[in-house]
Amino acid sequence: MATMQIIFALIPAAIYLVAGLPATSGGMTIGTLVAFTALQSSIFRPLMGLLNTGAQWVTSMALFSRIFGYLDLEVDVPEPTHPVALPREQARGEVRFEDVSFRYPGSHTDALHDVSVEVPAGSTLALVGETGSGKSTFAALVSRLYDPTAGRVTIDGIDVRDLSSADLAALVGVVSQETYLVHGTIADNLRLARPDASDIDLWQALEVAQIDDVVATLPEGLHTLVGARGYRFSGGEQQRLAIARTVLRNPRILLLDEATSALDNDTERGLQAALDALVVGRTTIVIAHRLSTVRDADQIVVLDHAEILERGTHATLVAAAGRYASLAAR
Ligand SMILES: Nc1ncnc2c1ncn2[C@@H]1O[C@H](COP(=O)(O)OP(=O)(O)O)[C@@H](O)[C@H]1O
Ligand SMILES: [Mg+2]
Repeated sequence: MATMQIIFALIPAAIYLVAGLPATSGGMTIGTLVAFTALQSSIFRPLMGLLNTGAQWVTSMALFSRIFGYLDLEVDVPEPTHPVALPREQARGEVRFEDVSFRYPGSHTDALHDVSVEVPAGSTLALVGETGSGKSTFAALVSRLYDPTAGRVTIDGIDVRDLSSADLAALVGVVSQETYLVHGTIADNLRLARPDASDIDLWQALEVAQIDDVVATLPEGLHTLVGARGYRFSGGEQQRLAIARTVLRNPRILLLDEATSALDNDTERGLQAALDALVVGRTTIVIAHRLSTVRDADQIVVLDHAEILERGTHATLVAAAGRYASLAAR
């Protein structure tokens, strides 16, 4: 491009030079000379435009190859060829881990090692452990973000690998620390979970999540726009909107992965009531950094370096005076 520009800048100089030489100056009038240079400079723009098109073409091809490279990626968790139907209405929601080990691709150690856990339908399992002990990995295997390296994860006795992703998505709901609000109205965001929900359904869900009063005070109510990351709402309010979304979805199995850890104590207390309402009648796997939320679980599993260290209820684990007891005493 620079070379072309230099050449184009030099051309008028060359024309003047040639026109001024004794050999040619006799045959050329001033008028011809001026007309010639003017024409030459007006052909400059379209020519540069053509050259730019070439450059854009090359850039676009590079982008296209990245886009198609992405589309061609192999699916990590393939759809089963003969899915077993388990519609939400028929599911009880029993979750079982049978000798499950999992290692992240490229990692040298297991993120979960030989874990067997049974979560009866409708009960609550609490996972406790240091950061990096494998709690989120456990939750990821239930929602089948990954497939286990060994062993199997079942829901109502059916391997999650045999469930269609649509059935599994209807069965399992996740509330994590990271909540996403898409750019749109509050109603749009809630209807992501259930497109056919009526306004009344939306308000009921907001009420369960204890955020209906906040939305009611907004001038545009349900039609208030929320920004790209929902920055008009505080962290706690965003969490509650995410909970309202999960209420609408009405999953049989609920995964709460440190759903309240980003919040301060007061906000968490407010949210806790919303979560308690959500948990009723569902199989719940709760990962919490604060043990207050864990106390009442039917079953507590303490993970340590990818393995189960202790399991029991709050009472039995405190009596055993192990890791859980020392965490609880803190
Ligand atoms: N996507 C990933 N790729 C590789 N290793 C990972 C990935 N996610 C987590 N890990 C590793 O797996 C282990 C368990 O992580 P995680 O389940 O997130 O722990 P927790 O939720 O208990 O803090 C950690 O050692 C972590 O570094
Ligand atoms: Mg985690």
